[in-house]
Amino acid sequence: MKIPIIIDCDPGHDDALMLMLAFGSGKFDIKAVTTSAGNQTQEKTLNNALKILTLIGANVPVFRGAEKPLFRNLIIADYVHGETGLDGPALPKPAFEAQALSAVEGIAAILRSSEEKITIVPTGPLTNIATFLLAYPHLKDKIERISLMGGGIFRGNMTPLAEFNIFADPEAAHLVFKSGIPITMCGLDVTHKALVFQKDIDLLRSIGNNTGKAAADLMDFFSIFYRTNRTELDGGAALHDPCAIAWLIEPEMFTSKPCFVDVEINGTLTTGTTVVDFYDVTGKEPNVEVVYDIDRERYIKMLYNAICQLP
Ligand code: RIB
Ligand code: CA
Repeated sequence: MKIPIIIDCDPGHDDALMLMLAFGSGKFDIKAVTTSAGNQTQEKTLNNALKILTLIGANVPVFRGAEKPLFRNLIIADYVHGETGLDGPALPKPAFEAQALSAVEGIAAILRSSEEKITIVPTGPLTNIATFLLAYPHLKDKIERISLMGGGIFRGNMTPLAEFNIFADPEAAHLVFKSGIPITMCGLDVTHKALVFQKDIDLLRSIGNNTGKAAADLMDFFSIFYRTNRTELDGGAALHDPCAIAWLIEPEMFTSKPCFVDVEINGTLTTGTTVVDFYDVTGKEPNVEVVYDIDRERYIKMLYNAICQLP
Protein backbone atom coordinates (compact mmCIF):
# COMPACT_ATOMS: atom_id res chain seq x y z
CA MET A 1 0.00 0.00 0.00
CA LYS A 2 1.64 3.29 -1.11
CA ILE A 3 1.78 6.14 1.39
CA PRO A 4 -0.11 9.22 0.04
CA ILE A 5 2.09 12.29 0.39
CA ILE A 6 2.49 15.92 -0.64
CA ILE A 7 6.09 17.16 -0.80
CA ASP A 8 6.93 20.83 -0.04
CA CYS A 9 10.54 21.62 -0.90
CA ASP A 10 13.09 24.31 -1.84
CA PRO A 11 15.45 22.59 -4.33
CA GLY A 12 18.31 22.77 -3.28
CA HIS A 13 20.75 19.90 -3.78
CA ASP A 14 19.52 17.75 -0.91
CA ASP A 15 15.89 18.45 -1.82
CA ALA A 16 16.69 17.11 -5.30
CA LEU A 17 18.00 13.84 -3.87
CA MET A 18 14.95 13.70 -1.58
CA LEU A 19 12.74 13.84 -4.72
CA MET A 20 14.82 11.06 -6.31
CA LEU A 21 14.35 8.91 -3.20
CA ALA A 22 10.62 9.67 -2.95
CA PHE A 23 9.89 8.80 -6.57
CA GLY A 24 12.47 6.04 -7.05
CA SER A 25 11.52 4.14 -3.89
CA GLY A 26 8.08 3.29 -5.28
CA LYS A 27 6.68 3.54 -1.73
CA PHE A 28 4.60 6.67 -2.22
CA ASP A 29 1.51 7.92 -3.97
CA ILE A 30 2.86 11.42 -4.56
CA LYS A 31 -0.12 13.71 -4.98
CA ALA A 32 1.84 16.91 -5.59
CA VAL A 33 5.05 18.84 -5.14
CA THR A 34 4.86 22.40 -3.81
CA THR A 35 7.82 24.76 -3.68
CA SER A 36 9.03 27.09 -0.95
CA ALA A 37 11.49 29.97 -1.10
CA GLY A 38 14.56 29.10 0.93
CA ASN A 39 17.69 27.72 -0.65
CA GLN A 40 16.93 30.11 -3.48
CA THR A 41 14.09 32.42 -4.53
CA GLN A 42 10.69 30.94 -5.30
CA GLU A 43 11.30 31.54 -9.03
CA LYS A 44 14.41 29.37 -8.90
CA THR A 45 13.21 26.64 -6.54
CA LEU A 46 10.08 26.16 -8.66
CA ASN A 47 12.13 25.93 -11.84
CA ASN A 48 14.53 23.55 -10.10
CA ALA A 49 11.70 21.28 -8.96
CA LEU A 50 10.35 21.14 -12.53
CA LYS A 51 13.84 20.32 -13.87
CA ILE A 52 14.42 17.48 -11.38
CA LEU A 53 10.94 16.02 -11.96
CA THR A 54 11.59 16.17 -15.72
CA LEU A 55 14.95 14.44 -15.24
CA ILE A 56 13.38 11.56 -13.28
CA GLY A 57 10.33 11.30 -15.52
CA ALA A 58 7.86 12.22 -12.76
CA ASN A 59 4.90 14.16 -14.08
CA VAL A 60 3.00 15.18 -10.95
CA PRO A 61 1.15 18.44 -10.23
CA VAL A 62 3.58 21.16 -9.10
CA PHE A 63 2.28 24.23 -7.28
CA ARG A 64 4.15 27.51 -6.75
CA GLY A 65 4.45 28.56 -3.11
CA ALA A 66 5.12 31.74 -1.18
CA GLU A 67 7.66 34.29 -2.42
CA LYS A 68 8.78 35.11 1.14
CA PRO A 69 8.27 34.18 4.82
CA LEU A 70 5.08 35.18 6.67
CA PHE A 71 6.51 38.33 8.26
CA ARG A 72 10.23 38.46 7.63
CA ASN A 73 12.42 39.20 4.64
CA LEU A 74 13.54 36.28 2.51
CA ILE A 75 16.95 34.80 3.23
CA ILE A 76 18.50 32.36 0.78
CA ALA A 77 21.33 29.81 0.98
CA ASP A 78 23.13 30.58 -2.29
CA TYR A 79 26.42 30.16 -0.42
CA VAL A 80 25.61 26.43 -0.30
CA HIS A 81 23.46 25.82 -3.40
CA GLY A 82 24.84 28.43 -5.82
CA GLU A 83 23.27 31.02 -8.10
CA THR A 84 20.74 28.62 -9.62
CA GLY A 85 20.03 26.74 -6.42
CA LEU A 86 21.17 23.55 -8.17
CA ASP A 87 24.66 24.49 -9.35
CA GLY A 88 26.78 21.63 -10.66
CA PRO A 89 24.95 19.32 -13.07
CA ALA A 90 23.53 20.07 -16.50
CA LEU A 91 19.79 19.51 -16.02
CA PRO A 92 17.02 19.21 -18.65
CA LYS A 93 14.69 22.13 -19.32
CA PRO A 94 11.33 21.57 -17.61
CA ALA A 95 9.01 19.48 -19.78
CA PHE A 96 5.90 20.83 -18.02
CA GLU A 97 4.69 23.88 -16.15
CA ALA A 98 3.39 24.48 -12.65
CA GLN A 99 -0.35 24.39 -12.04
CA ALA A 100 -2.31 27.66 -12.04
CA LEU A 101 -3.37 27.23 -8.40
CA SER A 102 -1.03 28.39 -5.62
CA ALA A 103 0.59 25.87 -3.27
CA VAL A 104 -1.96 26.62 -0.53
CA GLU A 105 -4.91 26.19 -2.91
CA GLY A 106 -3.35 23.08 -4.41
CA ILE A 107 -2.87 21.45 -1.00
CA ALA A 108 -6.45 22.38 -0.05
CA ALA A 109 -7.91 20.94 -3.27
CA ILE A 110 -6.02 17.64 -2.83
CA LEU A 111 -6.90 17.23 0.86
CA ARG A 112 -10.53 18.23 0.27
CA SER A 113 -11.02 15.57 -2.40
CA SER A 114 -8.97 12.80 -0.78
CA GLU A 115 -10.76 9.87 0.89
CA GLU A 116 -7.63 9.10 2.91
CA LYS A 117 -5.44 11.19 5.17
CA ILE A 118 -2.26 12.51 3.54
CA THR A 119 1.26 12.91 4.93
CA ILE A 120 3.00 16.23 4.27
CA VAL A 121 6.80 16.20 3.76
CA PRO A 122 8.29 19.70 4.06
CA THR A 123 12.04 20.04 3.47
CA GLY A 124 12.31 23.83 3.29
CA PRO A 125 10.91 26.76 5.29
CA LEU A 126 7.38 26.06 6.54
CA THR A 127 5.67 29.14 5.06
CA ASN A 128 3.33 27.22 2.72
CA ILE A 129 2.26 24.73 5.39
CA ALA A 130 1.60 27.44 7.99
CA THR A 131 -0.37 29.52 5.48
CA PHE A 132 -2.43 26.47 4.53
CA LEU A 133 -3.23 25.78 8.21
CA LEU A 134 -4.26 29.42 8.74
CA ALA A 135 -6.46 29.47 5.62
CA TYR A 136 -8.00 25.98 5.92
CA PRO A 137 -8.06 24.97 9.61
CA HIS A 138 -11.00 22.64 8.95
CA LEU A 139 -8.82 20.54 6.61
CA LYS A 140 -6.14 19.96 9.28
CA ASP A 141 -7.73 16.60 10.15
CA LYS A 142 -7.01 15.35 6.61
CA ILE A 143 -3.28 15.44 7.41
CA GLU A 144 -1.92 12.12 8.72
CA ARG A 145 1.50 13.41 9.77
CA ILE A 146 4.13 16.03 8.92
CA SER A 147 7.57 14.46 8.36
CA LEU A 148 9.95 17.39 8.07
CA MET A 149 13.61 18.22 7.79
CA GLY A 150 14.38 21.09 10.14
CA GLY A 151 15.52 22.15 13.57
CA GLY A 152 17.95 20.56 15.93
CA ILE A 153 18.15 19.52 19.58
CA PHE A 154 21.07 21.63 20.76
CA ARG A 155 22.49 22.93 17.50
CA GLY A 156 21.98 25.24 14.54
CA ASN A 157 23.55 26.15 11.23
CA MET A 158 22.25 29.72 10.86
CA THR A 159 22.82 30.72 14.48
CA PRO A 160 24.40 28.56 17.19
CA LEU A 161 20.91 27.21 17.95
CA ALA A 162 18.74 27.72 14.83
CA GLU A 163 18.63 25.58 11.70
CA PHE A 164 17.99 27.21 8.29
CA ASN A 165 14.45 25.91 7.51
CA ILE A 166 13.14 27.01 10.90
CA PHE A 167 15.20 30.21 11.12
CA ALA A 168 14.06 31.35 7.66
CA ASP A 169 10.43 31.54 8.86
CA PRO A 170 10.21 30.98 12.64
CA GLU A 171 6.61 32.18 12.93
CA ALA A 172 5.54 29.62 10.33
CA ALA A 173 7.43 26.88 12.14
CA HIS A 174 5.94 27.94 15.50
CA LEU A 175 2.45 27.61 14.03
CA VAL A 176 3.16 24.19 12.51
CA PHE A 177 4.69 22.80 15.72
CA LYS A 178 1.67 24.09 17.70
CA SER A 179 -0.83 22.60 15.22
CA GLY A 180 -1.43 19.32 17.04
CA ILE A 181 -0.67 17.38 13.85
CA PRO A 182 1.75 14.46 14.53
CA ILE A 183 5.23 15.64 13.53
CA THR A 184 8.45 13.79 12.79
CA MET A 185 11.42 16.15 13.01
CA CYS A 186 14.64 15.18 11.20
CA GLY A 187 16.94 17.89 12.51
CA LEU A 188 20.66 18.51 12.31
CA ASP A 189 21.36 15.90 15.00
CA VAL A 190 20.46 13.13 12.55
CA THR A 191 21.25 14.87 9.27
CA HIS A 192 24.84 15.55 10.31
CA LYS A 193 25.17 11.76 10.62
CA ALA A 194 23.39 11.20 7.26
CA LEU A 195 26.68 11.91 5.50
CA VAL A 196 27.64 11.36 1.88
CA PHE A 197 31.34 10.73 1.26
CA GLN A 198 33.25 10.63 -2.04
CA LYS A 199 32.92 6.82 -2.17
CA ASP A 200 29.13 7.21 -1.99
CA ILE A 201 29.15 9.81 -4.76
CA ASP A 202 31.23 7.48 -6.91
CA LEU A 203 28.74 4.66 -6.17
CA LEU A 204 25.82 6.82 -7.36
CA ARG A 205 27.72 7.76 -10.51
CA SER A 206 28.46 4.07 -11.17
CA ILE A 207 24.73 3.39 -11.58
CA GLY A 208 25.24 4.74 -15.09
CA ASN A 209 21.83 6.33 -15.67
CA ASN A 210 21.07 10.03 -16.08
CA THR A 211 19.69 10.35 -12.56
CA GLY A 212 22.77 8.74 -11.02
CA LYS A 213 25.05 11.09 -12.93
CA ALA A 214 23.00 14.14 -11.92
CA ALA A 215 22.90 12.97 -8.28
CA ALA A 216 26.68 12.56 -8.26
CA ASP A 217 27.24 15.95 -9.91
CA LEU A 218 24.87 17.54 -7.38
CA MET A 219 26.72 15.93 -4.47
CA ASP A 220 30.11 16.98 -5.87
CA PHE A 221 28.95 20.62 -5.77
CA PHE A 222 27.09 20.26 -2.44
CA SER A 223 30.23 18.79 -0.85
CA ILE A 224 32.28 21.92 -1.57
CA PHE A 225 30.51 23.83 1.22
CA TYR A 226 30.81 20.98 3.73
CA ARG A 227 34.45 20.18 3.01
CA THR A 228 35.28 23.86 3.46
CA ASN A 229 32.98 24.85 6.34
CA ARG A 230 32.14 21.64 8.22
CA THR A 231 35.58 20.06 8.50
CA GLU A 232 34.44 18.14 11.58
CA LEU A 233 32.36 15.98 9.20
CA ASP A 234 35.60 14.51 7.81
CA GLY A 235 34.82 15.24 4.17
CA GLY A 236 31.19 14.14 4.38
CA ALA A 237 28.26 16.27 3.24
CA ALA A 238 25.10 16.29 5.39
CA LEU A 239 22.38 14.86 3.17
CA HIS A 240 19.55 16.49 5.14
CA ASP A 241 16.29 16.27 3.21
CA PRO A 242 16.05 12.62 2.15
CA CYS A 243 15.91 11.75 5.88
CA ALA A 244 12.31 13.04 6.04
CA ILE A 245 11.34 10.55 3.31
CA ALA A 246 13.58 7.68 4.47
CA TRP A 247 11.97 7.79 7.94
CA LEU A 248 8.56 7.18 6.34
CA ILE A 249 9.96 4.19 4.42
CA GLU A 250 12.02 2.58 7.20
CA PRO A 251 11.69 4.28 10.60
CA GLU A 252 13.73 1.44 12.10
CA MET A 253 16.75 2.82 10.21
CA PHE A 254 16.64 5.72 12.68
CA THR A 255 16.69 6.40 16.41
CA SER A 256 14.06 8.82 17.71
CA LYS A 257 12.22 9.90 20.83
CA PRO A 258 8.84 11.60 21.44
CA CYS A 259 9.53 15.04 22.93
CA PHE A 260 7.71 18.28 23.58
CA VAL A 261 9.04 20.83 21.05
CA ASP A 262 8.24 24.53 20.66
CA VAL A 263 9.83 27.19 18.43
CA GLU A 264 11.36 30.38 19.80
CA ILE A 265 10.15 33.47 17.90
CA ASN A 266 11.16 36.31 20.24
CA GLY A 267 14.70 35.49 21.42
CA THR A 268 17.58 37.87 20.85
CA LEU A 269 20.05 35.00 20.55
CA THR A 270 17.58 32.15 20.06
CA THR A 271 14.93 33.11 17.47
CA GLY A 272 14.31 30.11 15.17
CA THR A 273 15.44 27.56 17.75
CA THR A 274 13.46 24.33 18.05
CA VAL A 275 13.38 24.08 21.83
CA VAL A 276 13.39 20.30 22.37
CA ASP A 277 12.47 19.01 25.85
CA PHE A 278 14.67 15.91 25.39
CA TYR A 279 14.75 15.06 29.11
CA ASP A 280 11.04 15.84 29.73
CA VAL A 281 11.85 18.55 32.29
CA THR A 282 8.65 20.51 31.48
CA GLY A 283 6.31 17.54 31.82
CA LYS A 284 4.52 18.81 28.71
CA GLU A 285 2.89 16.27 26.38
CA PRO A 286 5.28 15.28 23.54
CA ASN A 287 4.11 16.63 20.14
CA VAL A 288 7.09 15.60 18.01
CA GLU A 289 8.98 12.40 17.19
CA VAL A 290 12.52 13.80 17.33
CA VAL A 291 14.94 11.82 15.15
CA TYR A 292 18.58 11.93 16.24
CA ASP A 293 20.49 8.95 14.84
CA ILE A 294 20.67 6.93 11.61
CA ASP A 295 22.17 3.77 10.10
CA ARG A 296 24.15 5.63 7.43
CA GLU A 297 25.05 2.60 5.35
CA ARG A 298 21.38 1.59 5.05
CA TYR A 299 20.48 5.16 4.12
CA ILE A 300 22.99 5.26 1.26
CA LYS A 301 21.83 1.82 0.08
CA MET A 302 18.20 2.99 0.08
CA LEU A 303 19.14 6.05 -1.98
CA TYR A 304 21.21 3.91 -4.38
CA ASN A 305 18.37 1.43 -4.90
CA ALA A 306 15.88 4.24 -5.54
CA ILE A 307 18.08 5.96 -8.13
CA CYS A 308 18.59 2.62 -9.89
CA GLN A 309 14.83 2.65 -10.59
CA LEU A 310 14.93 6.04 -12.33
CA PRO A 311 15.86 7.03 -15.91
O1 RIB B 1 19.52 23.29 7.14
C1 RIB B 1 19.40 22.40 6.04
C2 RIB B 1 18.12 22.62 5.31
O2 RIB B 1 18.09 23.94 4.74
C3 RIB B 1 17.93 21.67 4.13
O3 RIB B 1 16.56 21.44 3.91
C4 RIB B 1 18.49 22.44 2.98
O4 RIB B 1 17.96 22.02 1.72
C5 RIB B 1 18.02 23.82 3.32
O5 RIB B 1 16.66 23.95 2.89
CA1 CA C 1 15.61 21.93 1.70
